[in-house]
Amino acid sequence: MSFYKHHIFVCTNRREAGNSRGCCAEKNADALRDYMKSRVKELGLEKVRVNNSGCLDCCDLGPCMVIYPEGIWYSCKTKEDVDEVINEHLLKNEAVKRLEI
Ligand code: FES
Repeated sequence: MSFYKHHIFVCTNRREAGNSRGCCAEKNADALRDYMKSRVKELGLEKVRVNNSGCLDCCDLGPCMVIYPEGIWYSCKTKEDVDEVINEHLLKNEAVKRLEI
């Protein structure tokens, strides 16, 4: 049994400037994580947890996140993408196919 209904890990890994792999931090991951956390709180989703993650090894598609227990991975680049994951995945239990990795 899972402690949370949805446990979300958002990669906020940062590499040095110029690193060939890039990183999610340079693609606004911190702000998107903060936005997701604030929306989850505003919506009162008490059994949802949003945590930072290190590199999830999908750097070229970042910012990346994975949601458990489903084990579904997303590439969310904008606040609108985050809203769609919240509205469809978290609230309706429907994966957002267009954002899946
Ligand atoms: S830096 Fe985010 S997946 Fe690698």
